Amino acid sequence: MKSVLALLDGSEESGRLKEIIGKDFDLTVITSLDKLQNDLILKTDMIILDQDAVDKPVSPLIKKILKKFYLPILILTSYDNVTAAIFAVREGAYNYLIKVGDYYQTINLVINDSISKFTEQLQMNQTIIALKKRVGELEEQLNVTEKKDEITTQPVESTSNAIIEDIIASIKRGEINLPSLPRISIKFRELLNREADFLEISDLLKQDIAISSKLISVSNSAYYRGIAQNKTLEQAIGRLGLNVTKQYVDVICNRSLYTTSNKKYVRVMEKLWEHALSCAFASQFVDQSRRLDLVDDAFTMGLLHDIGKLLLLQIVFEMEISGKFRDKLNMVELIDTLGVYHGKFGASLLKRWGFSEEFAKVALYHDNLSEADYISKELLLVHFANLLAKSMGYDMQYSEVDIEAAESTRLLGLKEPLISEVKEKVKGFMEGDIRQYLV
Ligand SMILES: [Fe+2]
Ligand SMILES: [Fe+2]
Repeated sequence: MKSVLALLDGSEESGRLKEIIGKDFDLTVITSLDKLQNDLILKTDMIILDQDAVDKPVSPLIKKILKKFYLPILILTSYDNVTAAIFAVREGAYNYLIKVGDYYQTINLVINDSISKFTEQLQMNQTIIALKKRVGELEEQLNVTEKKDEITTQPVESTSNAIIEDIIASIKRGEINLPSLPRISIKFRELLNREADFLEISDLLKQDIAISSKLISVSNSAYYRGIAQNKTLEQAIGRLGLNVTKQYVDVICNRSLYTTSNKKYVRVMEKLWEHALSCAFASQFVDQSRRLDLVDDAFTMGLLHDIGKLLLLQIVFEMEISGKFRDKLNMVELIDTLGVYHGKFGASLLKRWGFSEEFAKVALYHDNLSEADYISKELLLVHFANLLAKSMGYDMQYSEVDIEAAESTRLLGLKEPLISEVKEKVKGFMEGDIRQYLV
């Protein structure tokens, strides 16, 4: 049985929570911060922190715990204290739950889910450590060959390319455990494909209280807000509609992939996330205004087009932590190398996740239309959205982009003032209050 350590207040509601968690987990409850000792944390698989049980912000505490321990921390928060919970997530907490409605009914599912995701991540890290060893051996062999052939200069760039090629080869051979697409995202896609009804979809989403509470917050954001404040998931789905709900579920599920335990690279990951999100919004707005009538969802295609970069970065960062690339791999080199390989990598990952050929094709050719054997509307759309996001500064590095001269702009028949309108809409979403609910 897994162990859970919970810091709760002494309220009646906490008593019910205790009862429910205690049914499935070995639960230890404490009611004050002084009881949160290292020996207790050491024995636990997960920590739950109710913000109402402490009288100061929990972010510094999260930072302190995660410096020493590797485990998921779930924040419980009341609706009026969500901002503090968001800060806690930025410090590395696994997620937060808003204490609305019958949230405690499904808390055991959330706990199970959090522990298993952390275990998956741990396994991935172990695989990476094994891979690092193999890369080291490979490099050693390379050095021996160089000496024998009296090759005196080996550019740094080709060393890093060799390492990334090796990562790709390892993935093809099945030696790296690629992270799986969150179950809820797969199930949602299945339900939409067989045109399931509203009830089935809300039943599915209710199983993940973190997703449900974020969807409620999004539906109450300035952009979607109605006359009354939504309090239930059904009201939220009713206001957003099924397609928009699916898009935000994809965003929330994907967001968790853009985190790194390597603090040095948090900013790069954040920039990549901004790029993915802005590209998703841009794809959706262009699709809507040009009525492209795509088979696949434009938003999700935009969101996932650079997924190869994300995964390569995660692997490379872990290798860098162990000193493998010290003094060899700088950020500019790394980003250049990702630029060359991420398409291939992303396409194979999307296929593995069960996405259609079109998704894989978009991942493969969105940076280079001339290499594609057939240029589809989907490919043109994401090519354009990718450039538009870059031109707005939503990217890992700044680049000059002449959006009006792009081939996709011409082939899609996009002109001013539409281009500026799309930019304005994207900016509205990227800078609006919705984003804070999607951390
Ligand atoms: Fe790209
Ligand atoms: Fe991109």
